[in-house]
Amino acid sequence: MIIKLENINYVYNPNTPFEKKALDNISLNINEGDFIGLIGHTGSGKSTLVQHLNGLMKPTSGKVIVDGVDINSKDANLKEVRQKVGLVFQYPEHQLFEETVYKDIAFGPKNLGLERDEVHRRVKKAMELVELDFETLKDRSPFELSGGQKRRVAIAGVLAMKPKVLILDEPTAGLDPRGRDEILGRLETLYQEGITIILVSHSMEDIAKLVNRIVVMHRGKIAMEDKTREIFKEAEKLAELGLGIPQITSFMKEYKSKGNQIEDTVLTVEEAKDELINYLRRKGNA
Ligand SMILES: Nc1ncnc2c1ncn2[C@@H]1O[C@H](COP(=O)(O)OP(=O)(O)O)[C@@H](O)[C@H]1O
Ligand SMILES: [Mg+2]
Repeated sequence: MIIKLENINYVYNPNTPFEKKALDNISLNINEGDFIGLIGHTGSGKSTLVQHLNGLMKPTSGKVIVDGVDINSKDANLKEVRQKVGLVFQYPEHQLFEETVYKDIAFGPKNLGLERDEVHRRVKKAMELVELDFETLKDRSPFELSGGQKRRVAIAGVLAMKPKVLILDEPTAGLDPRGRDEILGRLETLYQEGITIILVSHSMEDIAKLVNRIVVMHRGKIAMEDKTREIFKEAEKLAELGLGIPQITSFMKEYKSKGNQIEDTVLTVEEAKDELINYLRRKGNA
């Protein structure tokens, strides 16, 4: 296991009129090889939670353990933790600041004190991973790029640290469909490369397509936690929490309710297509 949360509580502005309990007794294990989808209504505590995973925020009470070390204890090395657990904020392009794409991505590895050659290798590799062409883009200003490209520069900067765990907080928010696809298309590949991923997203479609486990937050608590398919079987429970299910899953449920003997737990259009073809064949043969 890489990250273990034990009874995390977090209160914003304690002992003031603005006091707000954002995390309420959260316990969660994140294992190597997980691809977790973190979902929940706006204000449910997702962003607050993910900032606890790399020590950016300290819990009011409870423990965050990364690779066996309590990261908020005196002997913890936060720099090392932030290298292991890479966090891509919402709108990460707001944090780009160097005059070239290369310098921006190199910033983190340089700060680790790595040699020039190693920094160079990492920048190149990180750009490959997010499909940014090294030769044509390395000397460009990040501010001249498209929204999707800027965001990929920001993600590359985190990847250049070679994190074991990559956390992305709403990585496609505010992008056009093409920008979204550019980012989402890369996540599957990154996962195949062996990185553990936590994806915070509003899009049930994206979550259904990509992740293998879902954690649902509600008012600072974990309301549900299970394999992706199991979670999307619970349409009513999700609706109570203000959340939907993928459109295609919803369509298949509806079609089944009309008396069609199909499996209605599909998660993607591809799965639905196979199921419908099989069903129509069975029906044709009957
Ligand atoms: N800086 C802050 N100060 C006070 N309250 C905050 C702050 N950030 C978030 N909150 C509150 O904490 C709760 C959880 O917020 P957040 O973690 O941003 O949720 P989510 O990412 O799921 O939308 C919300 O009620 C939000 O209003
Ligand atoms: Mg948020």
